[in-house]
Amino acid sequence: MCGIVGYIGNRDAYPVLIKGLKRLEYRGYDSAGVALINAQGQLDVYKTKGKVADLENFVVEKDVSGTIGIAHTRWATHGEPNSANAHPHVSSSRNLALVHNGIIENYATIKAKLLAKGYKFCSETDTEVLVQLIEYVQISNHLSLFKAVQLALRQVIGAYAIAVLDKKNPKEIVVARKSSPLVIGVGDNEYFVGSDASPIVEYTNKVVYLKDGEIACITLGKDLEIVNLNNVKMVPEIKDVEFNLGKLEKGGYPHFMLKEVFEQPDCIIDCMRGRVNVESQKVLLSAVIDHKDKLLNARRFIIVACGTSWHAGLIGKRLIESFCRIPVEVNYASEFRYSDPLIDERDVVIAISQSGETADTLAAIELAKSKGAFIYGICNAIGSSIPRSTETGSYIHVGPEIGVASTKAFTGQVTVLTILALALAQEKHTMTKELFIKVLDELNRIPEKMKEVLYLDQQISNLAKIFTYAHNFIYMGRGYSYPVALEGALKLKEISYIHAEGYPAAEMKHGPIALVDIEMPVVVIATSGSLYEKVVSNVQEIKARKGRIIAIVTKGDQVISKMADWIIEIPETLECLDPLLTTLPLQLLAYHIAVCKGMNVDQPRNLAKSVTVE
Ligand code: M6R
Repeated sequence: MCGIVGYIGNRDAYPVLIKGLKRLEYRGYDSAGVALINAQGQLDVYKTKGKVADLENFVVEKDVSGTIGIAHTRWATHGEPNSANAHPHVSSSRNLALVHNGIIENYATIKAKLLAKGYKFCSETDTEVLVQLIEYVQISNHLSLFKAVQLALRQVIGAYAIAVLDKKNPKEIVVARKSSPLVIGVGDNEYFVGSDASPIVEYTNKVVYLKDGEIACITLGKDLEIVNLNNVKMVPEIKDVEFNLGKLEKGGYPHFMLKEVFEQPDCIIDCMRGRVNVESQKVLLSAVIDHKDKLLNARRFIIVACGTSWHAGLIGKRLIESFCRIPVEVNYASEFRYSDPLIDERDVVIAISQSGETADTLAAIELAKSKGAFIYGICNAIGSSIPRSTETGSYIHVGPEIGVASTKAFTGQVTVLTILALALAQEKHTMTKELFIKVLDELNRIPEKMKEVLYLDQQISNLAKIFTYAHNFIYMGRGYSYPVALEGALKLKEISYIHAEGYPAAEMKHGPIALVDIEMPVVVIATSGSLYEKVVSNVQEIKARKGRIIAIVTKGDQVISKMADWIIEIPETLECLDPLLTTLPLQLLAYHIAVCKGMNVDQPRNLAKSVTVE
């Protein structure tokens, strides 16, 4: 994780860097720091524990002048979040400053060698080892910074995106990447660096996405120079990037998470645009049109993802198996990558990721590719690493998601998976025309029905007050609602720090029901559908143990409504589309409980939006 920003040009670098860090704070917010070279050639490094705002307070009345600088916002991996471990890290001579996103796996071996040569370290980080190594290589071989970075990185095992400054050469920033993203913005006699394009787009829409294993020398007044680790010259591919800056603001909402929850009806419209055509009764998904043979003849689909995206994958499995009769496996990417999977060119791997940067998902893709599988990406962040490493895919088009708790990305992913399942079924003729049209029509109505659910915000906010002091929560559901139970529990734990578990409702009696007593809130997703009667029995079992039931039911429900302590009524839809509605009250419940508890909803402790370390 961690966010990197850099600037070289004729503006004051500090405001550009601070603004950029704020845009990247979703990547980590344990500590922040900045390094600038001022007009006198002095290297100033300021860093502090905490958020970017803490850094701003820290530098008040300090010299932040200079037109070249690098900056960092950290999600701690090696060493606790304190100012010593904060980036930038400087070399022993204090000539070099470096910011890093990733993990240097062999840092201990390199550190031992440098210690033996007399190097001293001020932090516990792998990053400080890297800056010292670069300096050691530079001094012992009399090299330019560019060359020294190249040689030093040949000794490094791990993942990195780095930006390095040398105070002896204040017209140059050297950057490099392997498995962690890095973007260079090309302006008019100025350059920008970012972990993604968000710190850059305000100034230029011309960007170069550095490729894995590439090192770039960014020199003021010169064209970009890019080489790979073997010193082979690479041609920079300058691309145009589209970005709506308004979407990076809160737009009047107290938190990004709440804004993103309320954006969902519009997001689903954007996600369906051009893909779902009710008049012609067709779905159009370019990836399916372009790769029909590969997809239709797949022996099976294997979904790889993490966290919320994995929950979406569980729903995708049901949709694809039910609509297309193609077997689907769903794997945690982190488990898949080390599982020696039985997979070959007959398989299609679907990688789902909001950020498109999740290290485990990227590694799962590389493994699947090496075995010959065809890779389909479902991502949100345009131009991120996963879409660039997959053969085809579909963006979910829900716009930037800033809140660490994923909300609109989940419903966007489920929507794309629904469209994918329909597109495949359309080609395979595995659904009756009647059912196909019914799903299509109903999918088209989801945004309006989502709006109805969002009207319940006040009711849910009142309900949340009752549970502010709960220590545990159980979420249960069956069929399509089981992944929703997992997602509801994940939302609650990550932003309110209340322990919560999601279970398939019928599994309760195999152990977890022992936890149920009068103190235990149990959220049941109990909408009408084929498993409704079964869920009624499961609710009865909870009731008999005095559990306190909050039920998400279909409007007009007569049975569970009478058994539950609290009900949240949502509009009726098809069972297979239920998750697109039932997830919303659970997002709101988690949100309001966290707000009542005074938690930092958008930046919960220990988490980051983009998990670029394994
Ligand atoms: O960007 P990705 O979808 O690959 O991220 C996967 C998970 O890290 C992410 O969904 C995480 O679980 C969220 N914080 C959940 O709200």
